[in-house]
Amino acid sequence: MERIDKILAKSGYGTRKEVKQLLKDGRVDLAGEVITDASFKISEKMFKQISVDGNKAEIHSSLTFMLNKPAGFITALSDKRHNTIAEFIPQKWRNKGLVPIGRLDKDTEGLLLLTNDGQLSHRICSPKWEIEKEYHLITQGRPFDQQDVINFAQGFKTLDGTEFKPAKLKLVDGFEAYLTVYEGQYHQVKRMAKSTGREVKYLKRIRIADLELDPALEPGEIRILTDDERDKLYLSCQLAKLEL
Ligand code: URA
Repeated sequence: MERIDKILAKSGYGTRKEVKQLLKDGRVDLAGEVITDASFKISEKMFKQISVDGNKAEIHSSLTFMLNKPAGFITALSDKRHNTIAEFIPQKWRNKGLVPIGRLDKDTEGLLLLTNDGQLSHRICSPKWEIEKEYHLITQGRPFDQQDVINFAQGFKTLDGTEFKPAKLKLVDGFEAYLTVYEGQYHQVKRMAKSTGREVKYLKRIRIADLELDPALEPGEIRILTDDERDKLYLSCQLAKLEL
């Protein structure tokens, strides 16, 4: 059970103060009954019965967004020297506790998730849960060949003792490939490439678990996950699906 003002604020209907006013003005109803008491508590099962101004409310008990991160922005919410991905979060969704899940380097593009669900974030980042992250990469240096596919599939240790777990390498040609990793070490793809004699010139994350970057999202565009995407993501992270 959660307070209705808190639920509405989390779902993007305004700040707690604005939501309290919305309630006071009699604009919110639960199954046809106007709720003016901001401390009124409701269960998740009742979420789908909430309306605002007579329209079925979109209630989110947690929020997860996909951003098509452009190169040139660091994965942080504020920074004195660099442009950050914070500028892609629409005003309405700021101060909702959204944080990036993991990190993409400044020059890396593609799928970056932002959420206010700490458990989801932990599952995706923790190597224990082996959540797939797939990257498209273009390299220079030694061309990839079938032996690399085998070496990457077995996992390997570098001279400095770093251990990379088995990863799936799909070659497009000697300098272009798709790499799926199951962990999220710092600069992982670049370090895997470097320790095998090549440098990454272009890197884009295209998938996390079953969730692919929406091809309709232009660089810098962000959108909330659809219910279907959200359910599938929670399922692959073995987190209970929320019944709305
Ligand atoms: N691996 C990298 O090296 N960089 C990223 O941004 C993501 C994965």
